[in-house]
Amino acid sequence: MKTYLVTGGAGFIGSNFIHYMFKKYDNDIRIINVDVLTYAGNLENLKDVENRENYSFVKADITDKDAISKVFAENDIDYVVHFAAESHVDRSIKTPEVFVQTNVLGTAVMLNSAKAAWELEDGSFKEGKKFLHVSTDEVYGSLDNDPNAYFYETTPYQPHSPYSASKASSDMLVKAYMDTYKFPANITNCSNNYGPFQFPEKLIPLIINNALQGKKLPVYGDGKNVRDWLYVEDHAKAIDMVINNGRLFETYNVGGHNEKQNIEIVNIILDTLQEMLPDSDPRKKLVSKDLITYVEDRKGHDRRYAIAPDKIKKEIGWEPETMFKDGIKLTIKWFFENEEWMKNVTSGDYQKYYEDMYSNK
Ligand code: NAD
Ligand code: TYD
Repeated sequence: MKTYLVTGGAGFIGSNFIHYMFKKYDNDIRIINVDVLTYAGNLENLKDVENRENYSFVKADITDKDAISKVFAENDIDYVVHFAAESHVDRSIKTPEVFVQTNVLGTAVMLNSAKAAWELEDGSFKEGKKFLHVSTDEVYGSLDNDPNAYFYETTPYQPHSPYSASKASSDMLVKAYMDTYKFPANITNCSNNYGPFQFPEKLIPLIINNALQGKKLPVYGDGKNVRDWLYVEDHAKAIDMVINNGRLFETYNVGGHNEKQNIEIVNIILDTLQEMLPDSDPRKKLVSKDLITYVEDRKGHDRRYAIAPDKIKKEIGWEPETMFKDGIKLTIKWFFENEEWMKNVTSGDYQKYYEDMYSNK
């Protein structure tokens, strides 16, 4: 039985990954979730799995060397799946230091602890171990001018935001461990995810949540920035496939050729809400294109991201399964069915965040 140490498993993608893995492998794997539970980490995301014998939760900060070494000392970890990070670009523009702390230093601690646990006396590593570093396409910068350009694994890193700079630094550390120690790892660089459990600071859940309450829908700049959206379960599947079939020391780009301008996304959400809400639902009258509000642009706003997923398709056979028109319905359906979740995560600190972030836009 393989033991997975998942960091950041209480966040959006981490919790979806844990659900995906238990659905696929049931009792044939063990998962230890290490998460410090920042504003973005929520154990409610995992209530379906919390009583499983083969799941455990450790509340710890990935920058805490002692706490992380203890997890390795007490468990024979086969795979580390490293999600834990500060993940929101707008927050990184306001408070860059915490991004460096968690994303760079935290990754260094994870790498060093795994290395100490897995290294043999001759400097080689125990068979079958792997560190999967979950990263983003934002490290490649922005595709501004050429509509036919894509991010490949060979595209030079050119991060612009403090978030992408911190993720690029963490990727470089993983590369340094692979080059220096032959440390067994892979890096995945994925495009924008959407789906259940996504925190409503990010575009798609923010628009769904605001529209259902008849609140303004803030669109940055001219609304024509492009993101390449992937349903989160397809990302989880890609990570599982790279753990099992990815060649050690390789990077794999993950994305589904689903480029859309932000304004298109907002319009699709509004149309889909109208289509899915029954006439008897009072929220239906609130959902309107009149809510769309163009606001001041994000500083340093990357124009376009677009992944070329050729390598992961060719080498590993991964392809996305969920078309955007279906994924957005699944996502909206999940938010309809989990109103309490949204209420809980938007109470308290979120209100303050929202006011600070959007009041002067
Ligand atoms: P998220 O913000 O929803 O979740 C992050 C999780 O990490 C939370 O549970 C949080 O509590 C935990 N965490 C934060 N700091 C920690 C620390 N110091 N110690 C322990 N735990 C800590 O993020 P997400 O959207 O699920 O992203 C997960 C990973 O995937 C990140 O590394 C991100 O860079 C990467 N990624 C995200 C996207 C996307 O579209 N969301 C796309 C590509 C890659
Ligand atoms: P986001 O979900 O924050 O992801 P990222 O910045 O990591 O790509 O934003 C997606 C796009 O939507 C990005 O171009 C910024 C834009 N955006 C808005 O127009 N309004 C908003 O309120 C938010 C949160 C994002």
